[in-house]
Amino acid sequence: MEGKVPLKLLWLSKVSSTQEVAKRLSFNCAVLSNIQTSGKGTAGKSWHSESGGLYLSVNVEQPKKSLELLSLAMGVAVAKLLEGFNLLVGIKWVNDIYFQDKKLAGILIENSKNSSIIGIGINVNQVSFPKELNATSLYLILQRELSLKELALELLSQVFIYLEVLSKAPERIVQEVSKKLLYVGKLATSGSIKGTFIGISENGYALLKSNGKVYQVRSGELKF
Ligand code: BTN
Repeated sequence: MEGKVPLKLLWLSKVSSTQEVAKRLSFNCAVLSNIQTSGKGTAGKSWHSESGGLYLSVNVEQPKKSLELLSLAMGVAVAKLLEGFNLLVGIKWVNDIYFQDKKLAGILIENSKNSSIIGIGINVNQVSFPKELNATSLYLILQRELSLKELALELLSQVFIYLEVLSKAPERIVQEVSKKLLYVGKLATSGSIKGTFIGISENGYALLKSNGKVYQVRSGELKF
C-alpha cells in the first residue's frame, strides 16, 4: 500500500516543541528539529530532547473513523521502521515503543477540531540518558550512528502508509499491534481498576480482566 508524502518538510535546528510548530502548518506538512527545549510527552510529561534524537511532528487531517486507533497505528509505523534494522520491538499500550526492557520511542497525538498532530520521538544517536528514563537508543543497540535524514524520510513514509491502513483496514492495526503487545497476561493497574491485561479491543482499548469481568481502559497509562 502506497502512502502519501508530506507536502512540506521543515527541519529546524532548535525549537521549543515540534508539536507547536506543526499546529501552525497545513495538513500533511511535517516538522523536525535537532533539539527541542520543551519536548512534550504524554500526560503532561516532558520528552528528553537532546541532540541526536529524532523529533518529528506531522499535521494531518483528523481521521474520520477509528481515531482512537491513531496512536496504535503510529506505533505500528514506528515498529515497522525499527524492524528494518532487524530489531524486534514491543509496544507497551498505548504508545511506548520498547526494545527489551528499555524505551526507544514515544508517540504523542494531539487532536483539535479538524486536525491531528502526530508527534514521534525516537532515540537514535544519543550515547547516554538520565538513568530514571530507563531509555535506550539505536546507537546503543546497534553500535553505529545513523543518518537522521534517512531515518526521518523512512519514518514519514511509514506514517503515511499506516494512516492509509487506518482509514481502509483498521482491523489490521489491531492485528499488528496485538502481535507486538508487551505484558499480556501480566497484572496491570489503571486508576482504580486492577486486573490481568488480556489484550486490546477492536477500538484499541486495553482490556483488563478481574474476577471474571473484562474492563475496558480507553486512555491513560497501564502500570505493570
Ligand atoms: C511519550 O512517550 O511520552 C510521547 C513522546 C512524544 C515525543 C515527541 S518528539 C516530537 C514531538 N514533539 C514533542 O514535543 N513531543 C513529540
